[in-house]
Amino acid sequence: MIFNRYAQYYDVFYQNKRYTEEIVYLEWLFRKYRKIETRTVLDLGCGTAGHMTPLLRNGYRVTGLDASGQMLEIARDKLIREGLRGDLVHGTCQDFTLNKKFDAVICLFSVINYAAANGDIIRTLRNIHTHMKKTSIFIFDFWNATTVVDYYNPKKRRNFRKNGMEVERNSATKIYPSQRKCEVHYTCILRRKGRLIRRDKERHVLRYFSIEEMADYLCRSGFQVVNMHPFLKPEGKIRRDSWDVTAVARRA
Ligand SMILES: C[S@@+](CC[C@H](N)C(=O)[O-])C[C@H]1O[C@@H](n2cnc3c(N)ncnc32)[C@H](O)[C@@H]1O
Repeated sequence: MIFNRYAQYYDVFYQNKRYTEEIVYLEWLFRKYRKIETRTVLDLGCGTAGHMTPLLRNGYRVTGLDASGQMLEIARDKLIREGLRGDLVHGTCQDFTLNKKFDAVICLFSVINYAAANGDIIRTLRNIHTHMKKTSIFIFDFWNATTVVDYYNPKKRRNFRKNGMEVERNSATKIYPSQRKCEVHYTCILRRKGRLIRRDKERHVLRYFSIEEMADYLCRSGFQVVNMHPFLKPEGKIRRDSWDVTAVARRA
């Protein structure tokens, strides 16, 4: 299962990710494309509540859903520590049923790319569709095929430090262009004061999409594409090197 062992390192790896800035961007998109005021938000693949926390602080009612129990545990602790009330649900984007419709559905930081098995992307999009009203907005980001193929890095090593944890992350990536898939083997090595504590391995399989392909999947799942742009650059143009693309969609 992905993001289980990896969960303990997640907030170390992304300690400098600018979630608050991303919320400013997201709220800008809510305002620009809204048909009604956004009050309820479903955060799919919420992870450790990086987006949920500032959204809850800003007064939205937020439900977070994730396939990883370990990521959700960290999210739960974070919400409790901050005195915030949000719903956390263990489930997958392909199969969840909440019997509720949300004003906005968000799915951020490559979550949709994990819908890699055959049929997963359509199942995921159709399932999201059933949790939306005619007035709702769906905002997510995905990896752009041309960029992944041209710029992916087959081997990477990075070192991180937080709260006495020293973590070395090695990743080995292979791409399979005919299937538009990426296989990433992560090895995480945890040390404290230089002493080896543990070593964890995880294999992630991600699917990347061309812009046209994603538009087609959205259309086949009952959506209309409202806008696509480079992540965090709502007025920007998608270029060959725009790795991460945001899509904004509504029920057709
Ligand atoms: C890169 S993390 C992003 C987490 C969070 N959105 C953020 O921005 O920090 C990807 C998350 O998606 C979750 N995930 C992957 N595939 C999933 C699926 N099919 N259904 C639900 N969650 C999934 C993982 O468990 C992980 O927490």
